[in-house]
This record gives sequence, structure tokens and C-alpha cells, in this order.
Amino acid sequence: MQYKGLSITDAPSLAGLTTIRLGGTAIAKVTVEDPKGLEALPQALADLGGKPVMLGRGSNILARSGKLPLVLVALGRAFDDSMPQITGEEKGKTLVEASAATPLPLLLGKMVAGGLGGLTGLAGVPGQVGGAVAMNAGSFGHELKDCLHEVTLFSPVLGLVTLPAHELELAYRHFSIPALRGVADGSGWFLITRAVFACPQQKPEDLKAHVQSCFAKKRASQPIALPSAGCVFKNPQGDAAGRLLDVSGFKGRRFGGMAFSGIHANFLVNEGGGTPEEAFALIEDAVLAVQARFGVGLELEVKVWP
Ligand code: EPU
Repeated sequence: MQYKGLSITDAPSLAGLTTIRLGGTAIAKVTVEDPKGLEALPQALADLGGKPVMLGRGSNILARSGKLPLVLVALGRAFDDSMPQITGEEKGKTLVEASAATPLPLLLGKMVAGGLGGLTGLAGVPGQVGGAVAMNAGSFGHELKDCLHEVTLFSPVLGLVTLPAHELELAYRHFSIPALRGVADGSGWFLITRAVFACPQQKPEDLKAHVQSCFAKKRASQPIALPSAGCVFKNPQGDAAGRLLDVSGFKGRRFGGMAFSGIHANFLVNEGGGTPEEAFALIEDAVLAVQARFGVGLELEVKVWP
């Protein structure tokens, strides 16, 4: 089938589309090549079957093995044209608009060069703007929600809408849309296409220095050279999952090609040839051990597909 504004690839490999390089094949990958394609998207997804899941850079995804009942939805190049750009000012903050397909490092680079602060702690976070917004990514004291002004998204229920940040539910590694609460599973999906950030003006040299110090801390405390999906568990209230895993003996724990990093215990890394089964076995052991030792139920931060 052909759909206006969409291109479709059959049986894409999740191992090739995620930063941890794990996972079987989805039913298809649908790329929305231009805004017109959004109109055709619900029908295309209904025809393809399976569960629609939004794919950015795949940096927070842990996919299972085999033939997965998923259809990946991604934004094409046309969405990345002229952005990010400054669009105005509000309440003393500068508004910066970015396509959801923009790599987060590119947005941060433009902000730093333009003397716009508020998000420099996210330096080194590898995802796209859409994915970072959809999970309220955070690092070194900054979270996307600190600067999020509005989000444009497409949903089969709401259509193409722009929602101000106060109409969204944003918390630690959490983003949801109250207007979609209670919507039946099959049509509760949404695709973020654009975000606007309200940023305080700061000296570019101060911002550059902060970015450099974040990179240095990241290099010293996180396994940035190996394939991973970032932190695998959320931090429980008042503690760090990395510390709990470390004290429970999981730092450097290996199973096949997968391991909890020897640099930071909350990073599950693919040392080469790792499999989803090995990853999930390590995760299960870790959850049980931390529960037994500390009485804390660790919650996954990575999204498990399906
Ligand atoms: N710790 C250990 N052993 C370890 C790792 C950490 O004892 O193996 C201890 C540290 O010594 C420190 C505490 O745990 O006292 C916290 O560690 P760290 O400063 O490395 O930060 P984190 O809480 O583990 C969080 C985010 C990271 C983010 C960093 C920097 C979560 C789950 N993780 O890590 O985000 O980059 O802070 O701000 O919130 C991610 O979301 O994917 C991610 C990597």
C-alpha cells in the first residue's frame, strides 16, 4: 500500500535502530516524510496492525527478540528543515522552537551559542528533541520540563494540536497528556512533532563552561563508549539506583554479552553480541536483589518494547 507523505520499510531491525543495539524486527517502520503524511498515518497504522511506537534515536529503548508486534513511527527529514530557531520572547525568556526530529545536542549547541541557558545539564544526552520531551529527560540538575513552553503533537484523537506546558503532566522522567487519559489503548498514541522552549539569557562563555564540566563528569562517571540505553532504572525517591545496585554487587556483573557497567552500576551495557534475554535476566536478578536487600522496588526507566 502507498500513503501520501509516508514511506514504509518492512521488518526493520531494532538492534540497528537502538543505541543499546538489541532487539528483533518490528512489523514495519513508517516515516512521516512531511506534515501531510500525518493525515494518512492513522489509516496506515490500522492497515499495518500491531502497536504503534514512536522512534527517535532509540536511546532509551530495550526491545525484545524475535518478530515483534510493533510498528515504528519516525519523523522524516522535512521536519528538520529550518530549526531550531528563535521565535520571540515571553516574560523575559527567549522562545526557541525545535523540530522533534532535531538531535538534542544540536539544539543545545544553538542555545549555548545564542546565550540561552536552562538545559545545558543535558549536554551529552544523545536523543532527539521529541524523545527527550516524551520522557522529560534530565541530567545534572536540568530537566526538559524546566524550559518546556509548548509542544505540538499529532494524535488520532486530538488531531494536530499545540499544547502549552501547563496542559501536560511533567515529572521526573515522566510526560503524559491529561487530555488523552481514558482513551482506549489503540488510539492513545501520539507523535510529538515540535517543541518550544523558554530559555533564560546567560553568557555564552558561562554556558560553554557548564557544558564542558557536564561532559567531564559524564566521561568520568558513565560508560559513554559502549552501547547502552542510559540509566536502566529510575532513581527511587531519595536514593540512587546506581548506588543500590553497586552495594548489591551488580557493578560489573556480566551475563553473556551484557553487563551492568563497571563504571556506573545503573548502566546496562552491550559489550558485544549481547542479547535481550541476557539483558532481561540481569535486570530480573538486580530487581530481586535490591528488593531483598533494601526493600526497594526498582522501576525501569528504559522503555521495554513490546
Ligand atoms: N553511585 C554508586 N555506584 C554506582 C553509581 C552511582 O555508588 O555505580 C552513587 C554515586 O556515587 C552517587 C549516586 O550514586 O552518590 C548518584 O550517582 P550519579 O551522580 O552518577 O547520578 P545518578 O543518580 O546515578 C542521574 C541520572 C542520569 C544523569 C545523572 C547526572 C537517573 C536514573 N539517572 O544518575 O541520567 O545523567 O544523574 O545528572 O535519574 C538517564 O536518565 O539515562 C541517566 C543516565
